[in-house]
Amino acid sequence: MLEIQNLKKTFENGSPALKGVDLKINKGEFVSILGPSGSGKTTLLRTINGLETSSGGEIYFDNKKIDNSNISEVQKKTGMIFQEFNLVNNLSAINNVLTGLLNSSNKFLSLFYLFSKKQKIEALKSLETVGLLEKSYSRSDELSGGQRQRVGIARAIIKKPLLLLADEPVASLDPKSSNLILSLLKQINQEFGTTILCNLHQVDLAKKYSDRVIGLIDGKITFDEKSININEAYLKKIYS
Ligand SMILES: Nc1ncnc2c1ncn2[C@@H]1O[C@H](COP(=O)(O)OP(=O)(O)OP(=O)(O)O)[C@@H](O)[C@H]1O
Ligand SMILES: [Mg+2]
Repeated sequence: MLEIQNLKKTFENGSPALKGVDLKINKGEFVSILGPSGSGKTTLLRTINGLETSSGGEIYFDNKKIDNSNISEVQKKTGMIFQEFNLVNNLSAINNVLTGLLNSSNKFLSLFYLFSKKQKIEALKSLETVGLLEKSYSRSDELSGGQRQRVGIARAIIKKPLLLLADEPVASLDPKSSNLILSLLKQINQEFGTTILCNLHQVDLAKKYSDRVIGLIDGKITFDEKSININEAYLKKIYS
C-alpha cells in the first residue's frame, strides 16, 4: 500500500536527513522504525504525508505516485499520531476528536458548530474504540497522558484512515500506559486492517507489537526484518 523509492530530504539549513530510503509496506502490516535520535524517523513520516516536501525520490500510495495534485487525497486517507499528543487543551475530548475531520486549510475557522450530528456520533464511536467514551466531555487537559494519547488516536481514526503514522506515540508515557496504547494500535490494525507505521525508541515494544522492524541510521535503512528475528546483533547496528 506504500512504496518508497530512493527518498531523500535535505533541510535548507542542514545536512541530509534522509539519504535515499527504500521501503515497501503491505496493506495491513504493522511496521516499527527504530533508530537513534536524529536518524530521520520523524522526517520520514512527515515526508510520507506531505508535511515536508522531499528533495528526491518517489512515494507511491496504493500504487499511485504521490505528487502535488493528489497529496490532499493521501492526507485524507492517512492519520497521524504524535509524541506530545498535539491536543487543544481547553477543548473537550470529543471536540479534539472532531478536529480530525478538518483539513489544514480550515483548521482555524471557528469550528464547533459546523459538525453534523452524524459526525458527532462518529467522534463518540472513535472515543468508544479507544475506551474513553465516559471522558468525551472532559477537557483534554484534565486527562492523564495515556488518556490524552487515546484521544489523539481517536482523532486519527475518526476519518477511517488506511494508513496510520505514529511518531513516538508512547515516548512520554509509563510502561503500563505504553503497552495499553500499543495494544490499542494493534487492535485497530487487526480490526480495521489499518496499516501502521510507528516510530519507537523501545525495542521490546517494537518487537512485541509489530510484524516488521526497520532500523534507520543517519537517514538510511540498515535493516528491515521480521520482528521475531530481531536480536542483539541488529540492535548493536543501531545503538552502538
Ligand atoms: N525542520 C528542520 N529543519 C532543519 N533540520 C531539521 C528539521 N527537522 C529535522 N531536522 C534534522 O534532520 C535530522 C533528522 O531529524 P528527525 O527529527 O527526523 O530525527 P528523529 O530520528 O525523529 O530523532 P528523534 O528520535 O530525536 O525524534 C536531524 O539532523 C535534524 O536536526
Ligand atoms: Mg523524531
